[in-house]
Amino acid sequence: MKKNALFPGLVLFIAFLLAGCTGKDTSQVKENAYPVIPKPVKLVKSSGQFTFTPQTEIKYYPDHAGLKDIGEYFSGMLNRSGGFTMDVAPAARPRAAKNSLLMVLDTTLDMNPEGYLLNITPKTIEIKAKEPRGIFYGIQTLRQLLPPQVEGAAKAENVTFSVPCANIEDQPRFPYRGLHLDVGRHFFPKDFILRYLDMMAMYKYNTFHWHLTEDQGWRIEIKKYPKLTQIGSCRKETLVGSWEGEKEARYDGKKDCGYYTQEDIKEVVAHAKKLYITVIPEIEMPGHSLAALASYPQLGCTGGPYEVATHWGVFKDIYCAGNDSVFTFLENVLTEVMDLFPSKYIHIGGDEAPKDRWEKCPKCQARIKAEGLKDEHELQNYFISRIEKFLNAHGHNIIGWDEILEGGLAPNATVMSWRGIKGGIAAAKMKHDVIMTPNSYCYFDYYQGDKDKEPLAIGGFLPLKKVYSYEPVPAELTPEEQKYILGAQGNVWTEYMATPDYVEYMVYPRACALSEVDWTPAGEKDYDDFVNRLKANLQHLKVMGVHYRPLGE
Ligand code: ACM
Ligand code: ZN
Repeated sequence: MKKNALFPGLVLFIAFLLAGCTGKDTSQVKENAYPVIPKPVKLVKSSGQFTFTPQTEIKYYPDHAGLKDIGEYFSGMLNRSGGFTMDVAPAARPRAAKNSLLMVLDTTLDMNPEGYLLNITPKTIEIKAKEPRGIFYGIQTLRQLLPPQVEGAAKAENVTFSVPCANIEDQPRFPYRGLHLDVGRHFFPKDFILRYLDMMAMYKYNTFHWHLTEDQGWRIEIKKYPKLTQIGSCRKETLVGSWEGEKEARYDGKKDCGYYTQEDIKEVVAHAKKLYITVIPEIEMPGHSLAALASYPQLGCTGGPYEVATHWGVFKDIYCAGNDSVFTFLENVLTEVMDLFPSKYIHIGGDEAPKDRWEKCPKCQARIKAEGLKDEHELQNYFISRIEKFLNAHGHNIIGWDEILEGGLAPNATVMSWRGIKGGIAAAKMKHDVIMTPNSYCYFDYYQGDKDKEPLAIGGFLPLKKVYSYEPVPAELTPEEQKYILGAQGNVWTEYMATPDYVEYMVYPRACALSEVDWTPAGEKDYDDFVNRLKANLQHLKVMGVHYRPLGE
């Protein structure tokens, strides 16, 4: 039944992978010389072009390690793809000499700390910003103005690395521009995470939400609790096809394992830092915790035994809220997490935690009584608030899914609104920061085309145009309340994405559309114009070997 319906889509998908992403979307490259995504606030085109040559100098002012790194990052791209080396050095004064790219920090500029000015003339290029991250975004714009071959890992023949002249003033609309990745349902190797970050940087995303723990796998090494990875990072097999309940289920019989060592995590965080991306780790609690319970059964209400989940869904076994050793465990885990991640925010999950076990557990019921709580929802609030207090005391703030509004909101929490926008509205009205990730606009695990022609997805329907149409600030909020909306994030749950190629297919180009939602002023957005730029812009992803979904269907 289901299998037959999915078959044509699967064939198409495999054919597309084998074809190396060739699509109809190459025709307009030359017609669109300014394919910048997200669209800059102001771009004035002018005639002529600047051409990079081995004689071009990359200069920065003042002498600053961050600017040097950015200069080397950019020269590295042209070194790989153009086969030439450009000098990267501090400038004596903030003035561009002929045939140079000059990056200038100017703290007196009246703009957003992530904004930049980019002026391209036939003789010089100048990027000015208040902070290095603004310069970095100017470089991303420049990169997108170059021929797509600039993304190549090896020297491209017969390519002139020129950019069209323009004067650009640009800054983001929102301070939080996020992409998420669930590595719990399927584990993805470290090298793919590094690549995921590289792609995010090109579209000026500044936050990577790394969903590291799940029912189906615990993916982060915790030195104090080795069983989390010895046991929790492996499941004995995986569901085949979609989850329709236990009776229908078939399993592949193959053990599936994977986790990141602390050294891997440090490498990812260091790479992200170079790309001006903050990595927010998510350690799920009290639900989605079966892998942890399988490793340490005393953390659950019943004491187990538990098994790392082999299918998808919401599970009743969650951390026991009446057991102090659960909090000791989580605080010890979070202590190692805080050492690894410099992010101010730590995501503590909070979603989809059924209260069945807590209702029956003497320890949980004793906690409810001792704390004078009304019910299990207030017990969840007790749980989250207790963890929040611990993290606040160590200089971190929590983010939680919108379920953390139920039973009272932890005092300093930021809310991620996923079940539509209601949670976001409620939190903003309570003067809490909000990140908008409503499933109807931001869930990149939904189908993006006709179900029969697409690879298996979780359900839903979220085509590119709908992502693009998203407006993160709800009309229900007053101007004062609107300030609590920090930005939007695309979520990538990977139940049905077992490989990096599959993830890329689901994420791109929808992430391109969302980048414009997060960056570009609402009044400047125009879908047809976006698609026109996208056709050319996608050539960059193509050269990078990204398995994006071709346009047009
Ligand atoms: C979620 O999608 N369960 C946050
Ligand atoms: Zn309990």
